[in-house]
Amino acid sequence: MAKLAHAQWSSRMTFVLAAAGSAVGLGNIWKFPYMVGESGGAAFVFVYLLCIALIGLPILVSEWLLGRRGQKNPASTMSELARTANKPKAWAIVGISGIIGAFLILSFYSVIGGWSLYYTLNSVSGTFSGQDADGIGALFNGMLSNPGLLLLGHSVFMLLVIGIVARGVTKGLEGAVRILMPVLALLLVVLIGYGMSTGHFGEALTYMFNPDWSKLTAETVLAALGHAFFTLSLGMGIMMAYGSYLGKEINLLQTARTVIIMDTVIALGAGLAIFPIVFANNLDVASGPGLIFVTLPLAFGNMDGGMILGLMFFLLLTFAALTSAISLLEPVVEFIEERSPLSRVMATIVAGVGAWLLGVAALLSFNVWSEPLMFGLGVFDLLDTLTSKIMLPLTGLGAILFTAWCLERDSVEAELGLSATGKSIWNIIARYLAPAGVIAVFITGLI
Ligand code: TRP
Repeated sequence: MAKLAHAQWSSRMTFVLAAAGSAVGLGNIWKFPYMVGESGGAAFVFVYLLCIALIGLPILVSEWLLGRRGQKNPASTMSELARTANKPKAWAIVGISGIIGAFLILSFYSVIGGWSLYYTLNSVSGTFSGQDADGIGALFNGMLSNPGLLLLGHSVFMLLVIGIVARGVTKGLEGAVRILMPVLALLLVVLIGYGMSTGHFGEALTYMFNPDWSKLTAETVLAALGHAFFTLSLGMGIMMAYGSYLGKEINLLQTARTVIIMDTVIALGAGLAIFPIVFANNLDVASGPGLIFVTLPLAFGNMDGGMILGLMFFLLLTFAALTSAISLLEPVVEFIEERSPLSRVMATIVAGVGAWLLGVAALLSFNVWSEPLMFGLGVFDLLDTLTSKIMLPLTGLGAILFTAWCLERDSVEAELGLSATGKSIWNIIARYLAPAGVIAVFITGLI
């Protein structure tokens, strides 16, 4: 008995690590803090947490459940499940749009992965040491205005992703996640400690947790919703693909709760590490995608042992970005491999080089190609907006609608192991509240 229990625990643990490896990434450390800053602070944080709990959690559970039942890639899983439930084959769109979205996200994700690599090198060479806010800002702007440098970072990052996925060694990364994730969390704690020493920690706490509701607009609510999807790797069929490896004995709700808590703690920790530095140096909270790159190096450059901590931090950030990027490329590769005569290596190269090319367009939009392309947005912002604010919510909506309305209700409730109250809560949230929430936010945010 004891042995069995242990075996189950360890496979659940492996799964949690794989899912957390995908979820925890640039979304938590790079994107979350700057979105909080752009959207006015605590009100955004509050809506984001609400979206995570009421929409993210049930959709995560739905994607895993669908994947576990379908046992195939997201597109085939959806058409197969639709067939057995006697529903239109068009549900396969949920899987296909996920694959396209993953490809689009990977292209700009890799550009930021490149920034992280460049900052890792800068930590080693001691560039941050003794710099003031102007010096650190100049370093960042210098990088952005240098297409060759951005191209180098983006290319090296994408090569790493292609190399790992082509060799099919993604499973081996879980062991590394097990060690590196706690170290990353520990480093955030050290940085939060540094934030406390600046004397501006209270200000940061107020900024992040004391809402000024007048700052809330339909647009920031849509941004919060989109980010809830982004950070949990939802709406791209990725969690669905992971679900297909999930054993029957694993409790989906508990596992989702564990992954979500890890993801949220890391994101909030990043915010608490960054905002004290912003306030202490009179920096602009709304400075956008550069926020962590103009704040944290200031801390590293001015604290004892900052060089080694900076190196560790940016290395770990790069690693977290890699595990997430791998989870973005993997489903695209599986899809190409299944639907074409290409080998795994060739499929990886085709998908990776395609995403790399699109990423080149994205990185040029920071310098030589900065004029807006469409809707007032450059390529980078366009890719981010299209995926986070449109594709992720719609695809996730499809996943939860299918689970709640097309699958047999009793069997879903049984699979989730729900009590009588649990059933009522699940049905209210999954059938009505979450879908209505996505639709309402989506419509008001876009008009
Ligand atoms: N969740 C990752 C992050 O926070 C990014 C990511 C990986 C992702 N896979 C995804 C986002 C799938 C959306 C869909 O950095």
